[in-house]
Amino acid sequence: MTAYPNQPPTGIKVIIVGAGFGGLTAAIECDRKGHSVTVFEKVADLKPLGDIISFGQNSSRIFQKWPGVWEEIQPIMHQTDKFHYHDWQGRFVTTQSFAEEHAAWGPRVNCHRGELHQIVYRHALARGIDIRLGQNVTNYFEDDEGAGIEANGETHRADLVLAGEGVRSRGRKIVLGFEDPPQPSGYAVYRAWFATDELAKNDLTKHLVDGDTHNGWMGQDIHFLTAAVKNGKEMSWVCTHKDEADIEESWQFPGNKEDVLKCLEGWDPVVLEVVKATPPDRLFDFKLVYRDPLPTFISPKARIALIGDAAHPFLPTSIQGASQSMEDGVTMAVCLEKAGKEHITDAVRVYEKIRYERVHKVQATGVSTRDGWHKADWDAIWKNPEGLHLKREEWILNFDCEEHAASEYPKVLQELKEKKGE
Ligand SMILES: Cc1cc2nc3c(=O)[nH]c(=O)nc-3n(C[C@H](O)[C@H](O)[C@H](O)COP(=O)(O)OP(=O)(O)OC[C@H]3O[C@@H](n4cnc5c(N)ncnc54)[C@H](O)[C@@H]3O)c2cc1C
Ligand SMILES: *[C@@H]1O[C@H](CO)[C@@H](O)[C@H](O)[C@H]1NC(C)=O
Ligand SMILES: *[C@@H]1O[C@H](CO)[C@@H](O)[C@H](O)[C@H]1NC(C)=O
Repeated sequence: MTAYPNQPPTGIKVIIVGAGFGGLTAAIECDRKGHSVTVFEKVADLKPLGDIISFGQNSSRIFQKWPGVWEEIQPIMHQTDKFHYHDWQGRFVTTQSFAEEHAAWGPRVNCHRGELHQIVYRHALARGIDIRLGQNVTNYFEDDEGAGIEANGETHRADLVLAGEGVRSRGRKIVLGFEDPPQPSGYAVYRAWFATDELAKNDLTKHLVDGDTHNGWMGQDIHFLTAAVKNGKEMSWVCTHKDEADIEESWQFPGNKEDVLKCLEGWDPVVLEVVKATPPDRLFDFKLVYRDPLPTFISPKARIALIGDAAHPFLPTSIQGASQSMEDGVTMAVCLEKAGKEHITDAVRVYEKIRYERVHKVQATGVSTRDGWHKADWDAIWKNPEGLHLKREEWILNFDCEEHAASEYPKVLQELKEKKGE
């Protein structure tokens, strides 16, 4: 029924909970592989919420497999391959160039989360995927034949359920068998996104919005990043700082400019001007929560699997949370294709095996990047400024998860069978 080059129908029915990047990627990839998908999303009207979001080369490759999507992303992408580092007082330290890795591994995508989400959502609809909005999923169940959910008081069944409802996942409880509350990470992020007319008129800040630029300022236990997009017409900034206050978690928690300025006392006037120019209603205060790695991503009967943030919340400094949630969906769609309708639980078990170790290694990089910036030894940095550069790991970025899942599947399945003594 779609105009897209899908594989022949496999007869596998999948329910996906949540239409974030994790859920939508899983839906589109399952559709490509010939599985039949229904998505249940709590929100009745998917608004373009959020601000800056980053995808590594590995997930850019996923977007490029979806006809028309890559072309739509071009005009909203942050277009620069240089990142300039300063110390908190504004002294220039070093520039990191991404030109080489763009040439070798492909482009990254940094853009507005809401704008990109709308593009992906429209693509899923254009493929004819059944996405039901305003469906609050309140329960999950599984048996030997399949799994299902309850949403708005109705029951729905399929061969398996993918729970992609983000950090506040209910699916986690079913999979884990216990409640796993989020913990405060000790950090929070002030975030903003706004038009740059004011900044362009200010002598201190106009260089930041002369085309697309990317800058960072590093201090003790705090860092401040700016990205100008759309040829300098809009700016996003984020400021990660210590915060023990509470663990309220919402992308729409209003921020207070006075609090930000207090955090940044004595900082580079350029940074202070950026904060002062921010319209109060475009400023958010996002408390970062953390969760220990889960013991498993899948339910006892292997008919329910967690994907995306529900399985593994990331710290923003890993710059991989969204990418990893996409890898989950791609990997699952491949495993289901390999296993076929008769062996769905094999697919679910192999999915977990393939994803588990990689995700947790990547998750750990979020902490090491933040600590590298926040606890920098400045005497050492001035001698070796490149010590501040983001580590660009080829094993993470130059990676095609679809190919990887397809080639690993037989080996991983064999290992699982040997472990069970089959
Ligand atoms: C509104 C919003 C704004 C965000 N803004 C940013 C940002 O600016 N920068 C950034 O880096 N990351 C942002 N994120 C997080 C980022 O999108 C995720 O970290 C990442 O993309 C992984 O996505 P996910 O699909 O696993 O989870 P999410 O993107 O959190 O998606 C989960 C989805 O599940 C739905 N859901 C939750 N509970 C239920 C339920 N009971 N029944 C049905 N559906 C349910 C939610 O409404 C949501 O649409 C934002 C997330 C949201 C929801
Ligand atoms: C979804 O259901 C839960 C549990 O019944 C409830 O607490 C929550 O308020 C509901 N959310 C929406 C948006 O209906
Ligand atoms: C890209 O690589 C990162 C790092 O390994 C990983 O976290 C992410 O899941 C990958 N994304 C995709 C879509 O493969």
